[in-house]
Amino acid sequence: MIYDNHNRPINYLRLSVTDRCNLRCFYCMPEEGINYLPKKELLSYEEMERLVRVMSELGLSKVRITGGEPFVRRDLMDFLWKISEMSGVEQIHLTTNGVLTAPLVPQLKAIGIKSVNLSIDTLDRENFKKITRRDELPKVLDCLEQLLKHDIAVKINAVVMEGKNIDDLVPLAELSKNAPIDVRFIEEMPFNGEGNHYPTLHWTHKKIVDLLKSAYPEIYKITDAENSTSYNYQIPNYKGSVGVIAAFTRSFCGTCNRIRVTAQGILKTCLYDEGVLDIKKLMREGKDDGQIKATLLDAFRHRAKDGYEAEQKRTTSIAVMESMSTIGG
Ligand code: GTP
Ligand code: 5AD
Ligand code: SF4
Repeated sequence: MIYDNHNRPINYLRLSVTDRCNLRCFYCMPEEGINYLPKKELLSYEEMERLVRVMSELGLSKVRITGGEPFVRRDLMDFLWKISEMSGVEQIHLTTNGVLTAPLVPQLKAIGIKSVNLSIDTLDRENFKKITRRDELPKVLDCLEQLLKHDIAVKINAVVMEGKNIDDLVPLAELSKNAPIDVRFIEEMPFNGEGNHYPTLHWTHKKIVDLLKSAYPEIYKITDAENSTSYNYQIPNYKGSVGVIAAFTRSFCGTCNRIRVTAQGILKTCLYDEGVLDIKKLMREGKDDGQIKATLLDAFRHRAKDGYEAEQKRTTSIAVMESMSTIGG
């Protein structure tokens, strides 16, 4: 196991396989989309396989595949098969918007995908259309049904947005009533691809918890899994749970076990840093595995202690302005 300079074990890699997406969630990117990277600037599948292998040899055992939307990249399934066969890779998880995912669920099950996090900010079709600028809710709900049918653990991610989906939160929480679904409400972050000034956060995790407590007075706190991003609660007799992710307030940094690699192969040791290492460049310069491992270890030993420190150290811009689609969430 590797430890960083703040004595946190690092065992979780979040790998973004594409910056492209088939939705246009307004909190993530502008309506016209972002400037997508040309293919040669993305890590190839061979490079990503090498990356996962090298990182697993360093002790990373959990891999989460993100995007953009991971399934808009062709041949993703072959890649998932390959990394699932690597000896150090114990768990593969996915974060998807679910639009293309339903027909692939049986294959995901066969590969042994451990869990899928599905982004759904509302169960109202019209509102879904407003938030994502696409009319795709039925396909997303079909994906949810398939995941449950195939017994793949599922978490729902809903970003909480003033004036947009506050009335949708309780209906979303109700998803945890009859099925083992963990519904997580996320503080909105400034990664919207527009570089807009980010106003003070209206819906803090505390305020979201208060809303849940007033809707469900009997709700109670449950123990959070190790390194959990969410603070989790149980509504009595519900099969699943509800949780709140303090993504903006960043109160879980003390147990952060994750690093990110963006679709263009940039290592981020915190969501809020501007990228600390160009892994694609190292690979294309012909560095061998040993050299890459040494450089990675050095980066792991220089992590910011939390998202505030990482944000402060940025040199390119005072304000965070990338799209979440490029970073991978
Ligand atoms: P689990 O592995 O199931 O705990 O998933 P996760 O919460 O790590 O991943 P997911 O891709 O579902 O992300 C849910 C939300 O949490 C997204 O909005 C992420 O950006 C946010 N998130 C995940 N990791 C971090 C982190 O290290 N820092 C911050 N601030 N937010 C994070
Ligand atoms: N703030 C908070 N969460 C966000 N996501 C995307 N953009 C933002 C943002 N600006 C979430 C999506 C997805 C996860 C990977 O990141 O809802 O579930
Ligand atoms: Fe696509 Fe996810 Fe961004 Fe929405 S939040 S536009 S689904 S990458």
